[in-house]
Amino acid sequence: MACEACGSLLDVIYDWNRLRPPTSLDFFESKWSRRYDPLDFSGVWRFHELLPFAPREQVVTIGEGQTLLQESPGVGKFVGMRPGNLYLQYEGQNPSGSFKDNGMSAAFTHAHSIGAKRAACASTGNTSASLALYCSVTKLMKAVIFIGSGKISYGKLSQALDYGALTMQIAGDFDDAMARVKEVSSQLGIYLVNSVNPFRLEGQKTIMFRVLEGLRWEVPDWIVVPGGNLGNSSAFGKAFAELREIGLIDRVPRLAVINAAGANTLYELYEKRGLRWNDGRPDQSITEGYYKDLDSGEKRASTIASAIEINRPVNLDKCLRALDVCNQGVVREVTDQEILDAKAQVGAGGLGCEPASAASVAGAKLLVSQGVIGPDERVVCILTGHQLKDPTATVAYHTTDQEQFNKVLGSRGIRRAAFANRAVTVPNEIDEIIKAIQLYS
Ligand code: F0G
Repeated sequence: MACEACGSLLDVIYDWNRLRPPTSLDFFESKWSRRYDPLDFSGVWRFHELLPFAPREQVVTIGEGQTLLQESPGVGKFVGMRPGNLYLQYEGQNPSGSFKDNGMSAAFTHAHSIGAKRAACASTGNTSASLALYCSVTKLMKAVIFIGSGKISYGKLSQALDYGALTMQIAGDFDDAMARVKEVSSQLGIYLVNSVNPFRLEGQKTIMFRVLEGLRWEVPDWIVVPGGNLGNSSAFGKAFAELREIGLIDRVPRLAVINAAGANTLYELYEKRGLRWNDGRPDQSITEGYYKDLDSGEKRASTIASAIEINRPVNLDKCLRALDVCNQGVVREVTDQEILDAKAQVGAGGLGCEPASAASVAGAKLLVSQGVIGPDERVVCILTGHQLKDPTATVAYHTTDQEQFNKVLGSRGIRRAAFANRAVTVPNEIDEIIKAIQLYS
């Protein structure tokens, strides 16, 4: 999946002049009326003309991308926005419960078109759940997944097991698993579906198409997204660059990528060490120097947001390009405490999400407090994964059991649960139960 000459990741490039894409974005909306056609039902393939790398007959879809853009007054207030300006793009509604299905559908389409029989990925849990699901539903390929031992939430692990994937728990973390899966898939000729795969990013572009559609094709001021392996942010930048190139939009939003403080490679490189896209020639010595520092300090990624617990993001360069395309994007880091407080606010007023997703909301709040995002601007935070992906973190946050709190959260420096909704313990007696309801409601 990388260029043999320079080692950079490959990109899917289209000759738009030859392809003649639609001249109006409303064209895609009109397809909603044909929901009986699986390709038009899919929130990815409704936009086929904007990711035309495979003919319609080869497309693999399981109904991904039925997701919602929700204006959220409660979360907006928490972030510091004026009413009506904060939107949440809820990707937890995908069949496997995360945004990964957008890209998996595209990677599967490509894999199927070249006759692949096995597909592999390393994962912090969502890519693997998605791959396992596509394999189990379509029976087109067999899944081999690599996960770091003890590094994956139960919700995600249970999906891989339930869907029947061959699950390899290796001693190490995501970065170790990623290095191994690349070796193994190249030795055994297994199709790799991590976001080093350029077709994954083609599918993930459609998250932005749906955001625009939800805003009646008005470009927002900001897109705020959690950053892990940086596939999503890279895909978003490509989506906006292409829409502008073919004349379907006339401006692009600013992009904010949010790292967890315990896995903050992009933040360190972009904001602290000045690494930039630099017209396609990012200064590799900055990145290499940083990775050397990580190794010599034996520094491992560590955050409650296990989905983005990644120190060596494979799409780093493409993300730099996205930050460049999107009007000098910004990168921020947020603590686990900030992530879990934001997550509780999302749960209380925005469909609910897993910890990594809430990094976008915590990041937006930070950027408003820094005056980078104005309270009157229109902001879209991407909620990448479903709340039920990681119930352990949620229950520990709301628990009355101090021991459980300390075990799961205290060990990560989380001291308080400002927005906890504590369960009320009552004896199994009707009078006591009625008394408690009257007291607390
Ligand atoms: N949010 C969630 C819920 C994720 O699962 C991931 C990545 C991200 C954000 C970060 O997105 O990698 O495109 O920057 N999860 C991958 C996985 C790494 O293996 O499931 P990214």
